[in-house]
Amino acid sequence: MQPVAHLVKVSLPNYLTNLPVPDSFGGWFRLGFRDWLALVPPTAALAGFTYVTYRAFCPHGRPQPSGTVNQKILKDNPKVVDTIDIEDISEKAVFCRCWKTKNWPYCDGSHGAHNKETGDNVGPLVVKKK
Ligand code: FES
Repeated sequence: MQPVAHLVKVSLPNYLTNLPVPDSFGGWFRLGFRDWLALVPPTAALAGFTYVTYRAFCPHGRPQPSGTVNQKILKDNPKVVDTIDIEDISEKAVFCRCWKTKNWPYCDGSHGAHNKETGDNVGPLVVKKK
């Protein structure tokens, strides 16, 4: 425990005290190359901590409303319903089931990125003529 206490009570405060942080906004423009170099590790550590915290609370880049699957398709409608005549399908049609496509109701492959990002395993519905 002694090394941790020394790190927190002595080493880290000394390190932070000796960082070349200017007292005024204009001081940033007077920093030399070595000063900027000294600021790289704490800036990288702060950026890493911020990124990890952000990912912990917003794992997909933005908060998802709970219980909502559809994030963007026809959100003005109370219910998304699509009707396609079977005669209009030539050989096959591939329909989206992940709600991430930009070509609703057809699959555009966006489920691949969704699955990779979330660990999900969704895929399209493929309708074929015999
Ligand atoms: S894009 Fe949604 S299932 Fe392929």
